[in-house]
Amino acid sequence: MVPVAPNQVAARNAIRSTWGNESTVQGKAVITLFLVGLTGGSDSEKAQQQLEEESRQHRDLLQSNFVDSYFNLTIKTMVIMDWLATRCPQATFSMKIDSDMYLNLENLMTLLLAPNTPRQNYITGFLMWDRPVNRNKKSKYYVSEELYPEPKYPTYVMGVGYVFSNDLPKKIVEASKDLKPFNMEDAFVGVCLKRLGIKPSRAPDPSQFRTFMKDSKRHDLSKVITTIARSPKQIIEFWQNVTKISP
Ligand SMILES: *[C@@H]1O[C@H](CO)[C@@H](O)[C@H](O)[C@H]1NC(C)=O
Ligand SMILES: *[C@@H]1O[C@H](CO)[C@@H](O)[C@H](O)[C@H]1NC(C)=O
Ligand SMILES: *[C@@H]1O[C@H](CO)[C@@H](O)[C@H](O)[C@H]1NC(C)=O
Repeated sequence: MVPVAPNQVAARNAIRSTWGNESTVQGKAVITLFLVGLTGGSDSEKAQQQLEEESRQHRDLLQSNFVDSYFNLTIKTMVIMDWLATRCPQATFSMKIDSDMYLNLENLMTLLLAPNTPRQNYITGFLMWDRPVNRNKKSKYYVSEELYPEPKYPTYVMGVGYVFSNDLPKKIVEASKDLKPFNMEDAFVGVCLKRLGIKPSRAPDPSQFRTFMKDSKRHDLSKVITTIARSPKQIIEFWQNVTKISP
């Protein structure tokens, strides 16, 4: 599940032509879907028409009726969780991944199919430990004491890409109901998990969940599960580098 702004068609197309175009990995079915909110701005009607055309063409867009903005990212994540819980009960695992990410599905599948990987109450990715809450009102990451009074967040999984057993969406939605949502969607999921008594798992090889890579040699890229790409073009370059198809 890829949350993405309605106008980020280049990001969607880069994903569609790379990891989003895989439908079977190690014999298991995989599906990539995009979640957008409402189109805003003066030409929102035209943008909506374009989106609907794109949807007819690719059949991979979900749209929910919230205003698409950074401060509504938590709502977006909860819409994803609700959708997974109600429309996707047949899935064993799900992933929330940002639209600027390279994803190596082969390596992800190897992790998910490993005998030691739990199929319940499981969530992993790039773990964030002991993170203090940002109380600087000028920061994008500011969260008020009213919304979250504790000085630190519980351990959570960085929002760029986290993978979880598909029993969790329903539980997370339930746990979120009597919490006030705040803008750090990943920390908010962490707070829901803490309520549920579920601890994020350390990946067997934590270095497979990367943020930025200093250099993206084929050798390194072929080992990761996720890493941030700087542009849609770079998603394609990373992909080509690993699949060894020259551009
Ligand atoms: C997806 O892969 C198929 C072949 O498996 C190819 O024909 C198709 O063009 C690809 N789609 C995109 C959007 O690249
Ligand atoms: C979030 O979405 C709600 C519902 O669509 C909307 O009323 C609100 O203005 C949005 N907030 C922001 C900051 O966009
Ligand atoms: C692709 O891999 C080669 C060789 O490992 C490396 O030199 C190059 O920088 C990589 N390109 C990209 C776009 O990551």
